[in-house]
Amino acid sequence: MANRIMLNQTSYHGAGAISEIVSEAKSHGFKKAFVCSDPDLIKFNVTTKVTELLDKEGLAYEVYSDIKANPTIENVQHGVQAYKKAGADYIIAIGGGSSMDTSKAIGIIVANPEFEDVRSLEGVAPTKNPCVPIIAVPTTAGTAAEVTINYVITDVERKRKFVCVDPHDMPIVAVVDPDMMASMPKGLTASTGMDALTHAIEGYTTKAAWEMTDMFHIKAIEIIGKSLRGAVANTKEGRDGMALGQYIAGMGFSNVGLGIAHSMAHTLGAVYDTPHGVACAMMLPIVMEYNASCTGEKYREIARALGVAGVDAMSQEEYRKAAVDAVRKLSEDVGIPAKLTALKEEDLQFLAESAYADACRPGNPKDTSVEDLKELFRKVM
Ligand SMILES: NC(=O)c1ccc[n+]([C@@H]2O[C@H](COP(=O)([O-])OP(=O)(O)OC[C@H]3O[C@@H](n4cnc5c(N)ncnc54)[C@H](O)[C@@H]3O)[C@@H](O)[C@H]2O)c1
Ligand SMILES: [Fe+2]
Repeated sequence: MANRIMLNQTSYHGAGAISEIVSEAKSHGFKKAFVCSDPDLIKFNVTTKVTELLDKEGLAYEVYSDIKANPTIENVQHGVQAYKKAGADYIIAIGGGSSMDTSKAIGIIVANPEFEDVRSLEGVAPTKNPCVPIIAVPTTAGTAAEVTINYVITDVERKRKFVCVDPHDMPIVAVVDPDMMASMPKGLTASTGMDALTHAIEGYTTKAAWEMTDMFHIKAIEIIGKSLRGAVANTKEGRDGMALGQYIAGMGFSNVGLGIAHSMAHTLGAVYDTPHGVACAMMLPIVMEYNASCTGEKYREIARALGVAGVDAMSQEEYRKAAVDAVRKLSEDVGIPAKLTALKEEDLQFLAESAYADACRPGNPKDTSVEDLKELFRKVM
């Protein structure tokens, strides 16, 4: 089978990039925007950075903000109703993965109403029509949902997060402006940044990885490794680097998939509402150790990209350990805890079965089992 690469039609990068939203809206002839953003972003005046531009240009819009972190089926269904009522013809998604993913699901269902139950979109959904056009504006440097063909929705009733993979949901325009991320507090910068690193490392080692995605992932690991500590300290170089690094990771993993650090993080998000990046950061070094034997020389390149000196002189055992240690050290330095106190022994069976059923699991370089997943979860207790 041929390898496929899908990216945005257009993307803008760098401080001040949000001013391009106006020209994009005008050149596409859009009439009214449905602005999807979450309540905190509205409260902290992040969303207004964009709506002020629309106001100034007299561009019509309506705001939808019934979106929680780890967004739910309900958030999507209410959004579909609100979109129809608004009479909008495109979406501006402003936020982290939660706002962008909700926007994608809304845009898909408006164009493909037979999927209005949302659950039927899990996995590779056979939608017929491209979603409503989306201009995506990330405010976290992590998920890269602005350039991926995935979105993740939480099924509260069944305590599951499910991944939907659908080329029809790709935002037509991504506006990656580090100024939109500058208001992130330290903890959020750290956790979303570790999500991006998890994308880059899992994407680099996933079963379907190939030269072109390796190119994206190894560059992303290098940029994120150099930038995350600075971003947490709110330096301009750090913020600029993370905005770019997380996007480049998205250019890769969206096209090849991830692995079980993500399967396990989705499960922890659904059961304990653990922020996605925190869950990824906890699982990543543990999963890297587990996968090492199925990754050939790749950990040597990961260690090199993370700035470890002397990797060419190291034995396989040494460079594999060096790569895992560098990841663990970065996570520690940015203040992410290694243990999840909410995790309980009696939940392990459900967690492991749920992670096994996750769409990211088959891409893991090492074939796994419910029993192995249980042991891996036990390591963060
Ligand atoms: N689509 C994909 O490919 C993909 C990839 C990875 C993760 N995800 C999903 O994305 C979600 C997580 O997204 P996220 O980590 O970006 O966080 P988020 O969107 O859930 O936001 C978390 C919190 O941070 C706040 N916030 C966001 N930007 C801010 C800013 N600039 N200043 C101050 N506060 C800000 C939000 O208001 C919210 O309260 C999860 O549901 C995850 O499963 C999707
Ligand atoms: Fe992620």
